[in-house]
Amino acid sequence: MIKLDIHGQVPAIDTAVAKAKLDELKSSDMVGWLTLPTDYDQDEFARIKAAAQKINSDSKYLVCIGIGGSYLGHRAVIEALNKKSPTKILYAGNFLSPASFQQILDELGDADFSVNVISKSGTTTEPAVAFRIFKQKLIDKYGEKEAYQRIYATTDSSKGALHDEASANGYASFVVPDNIGGRYSVLTAVGLLPIAAAGVDIDQLMAGARAEQEADDESIYKYAALRAALFQKDYDLEVLASFEPRLFYFAEWWKQLYGESEGKNSQGIFPAATIYTTDLHSLGQYMQEGRRNIYETIINVTDESPLITVPALKENLDGLKYLENKSLAYINQNALRATVTAHSTSIPVVEITTEKIDEYHLGQLIYFFELSCAISAKLQGVDPFNQPGVEAYKNEMFRLLGKPN
Ligand code: PA5
Repeated sequence: MIKLDIHGQVPAIDTAVAKAKLDELKSSDMVGWLTLPTDYDQDEFARIKAAAQKINSDSKYLVCIGIGGSYLGHRAVIEALNKKSPTKILYAGNFLSPASFQQILDELGDADFSVNVISKSGTTTEPAVAFRIFKQKLIDKYGEKEAYQRIYATTDSSKGALHDEASANGYASFVVPDNIGGRYSVLTAVGLLPIAAAGVDIDQLMAGARAEQEADDESIYKYAALRAALFQKDYDLEVLASFEPRLFYFAEWWKQLYGESEGKNSQGIFPAATIYTTDLHSLGQYMQEGRRNIYETIINVTDESPLITVPALKENLDGLKYLENKSLAYINQNALRATVTAHSTSIPVVEITTEKIDEYHLGQLIYFFELSCAISAKLQGVDPFNQPGVEAYKNEMFRLLGKPN
């Protein structure tokens, strides 16, 4: 179970109101993710595993093309776990920088590769452009027939340019369910195919999410209710912090989940992230003494492995005798405890404790944050599942680029 502790001064919270929002949520037609861990398509799941095996057998690289919810969830899990796999995952379609494209093309070189293009709408510009470029590279290398056998398309079941192209060219296709939006889709084929190809045990990932779903975890409601109460008191900036650099992309996923779900109608807590202890020597100053509209949520991972200790030496020239034979985990945990104590004298600090970073516990955390996010958005009176603001830049870009219609 995920443990939630609150440090420092916080307003009173009402978990009953947060629970009541769950009933409101259930009437939405975009909550397929709510029961997904207990109710996923077993055939699709088996196809995902088979596709991952094929990719592992014939590809040194899998280029995953997608942006936003079609990108961040799988990168979060893959980078957190860093499993051994015959296939290395590369990420494209989430930027337009030619230099960044070139880096990927250079890394691919002449190696065998496949492409997983992921877009629910099938029309987003960044992944569509990237797909053209990598599809052309596949065709140049393998010829059209084999190239098409190396393309895996994850998209809508019935509409969109990508759906139509996949049907026309016979790509292996996976479905983004109609009732699950991008940023809630990591446990669908959107996330699961790249995650499985990266050597991660997707059964365990689902098992963790399932445990959190079935536990009806009180911490979920507590976190959502606390966020709403803090927002009412003008705390409009939340920093997700962890002492685990491997959670960098998990925090990126979290930022997108909360930012896109809540930031509308002039509402929403701005989600930012830090990695400690690195950022204690930069943003730590702001956390301790900057403008007081900010609060912090720290993910505490208690697992102490692997055991790495401070070597014992004859001399004490560096003054570290007092840490000899102490483990890095012990020192890291004390850095965390010191940060919680120091920061909570001046801002609210929420501590979310998980035992480990493995498939099971990441599954739990994913479900925990998805549900608390949707409830938190509801408590702020906004729709967690749309993103009308994203259209503004898209339309202007289309105008500048001369897109027809
Ligand atoms: O959460 C969301 O819905 C968005 O971030 C989308 O995932 C993102 O805009 C990409 O959309 P699509 O999958 O349609 O290409």
